[in-house]
Amino acid sequence: MNDITNIEDIKKMVDIFYDKVSKDPILSPIFDKVIAGNWDHHLEKMYRFWGSMLLEQNNYYGNPLSKHIPLNLEETHFERWLLLFTQTIHENFHGEVANFALMKANNIAKVFQHRISAFKDP
Ligand code: HEM
Repeated sequence: MNDITNIEDIKKMVDIFYDKVSKDPILSPIFDKVIAGNWDHHLEKMYRFWGSMLLEQNNYYGNPLSKHIPLNLEETHFERWLLLFTQTIHENFHGEVANFALMKANNIAKVFQHRISAFKDP
């Protein structure tokens, strides 16, 4: 099994992950509402996001947190998201960058959860 070394690997990772997400009973309703069939646009953005995170591509300019605040995400959503992401990595990649992707995903999920809880009603 290879590590994540180029944009083709990023595309493979993102495509496999969102294929799982789109079939997941807990996560798919959230994406259906916002993405509304416009998956190509979302996937293209995620190639740039992960390319910037893992390959120093530096062509993602966005504010991910602000997009997640209105989604009313709960702990179960985060658990599920991380489970599917971890499965995607373990089933397809092996190496330093793959481990770094897992660490990044876990850290960002933690930050999102923490910040999102600060926006919720007491
Ligand atoms: C965008 C769902 C966790 C990174 C989105 C969008 C949805 C979504 C529905 C589209 C928002 C829109 O276009 O308005 C979720 C759910 C999560 C989750 C249900 C877990 C409970 C994460 C995590 C990361 C992440 C952990 C990072 C590792 C992103 C990025 C975008 C995005 C970069 C694009 C933001 C932009 O428009 O620039 N997510 N997400 N998400 N998500 Fe997540």
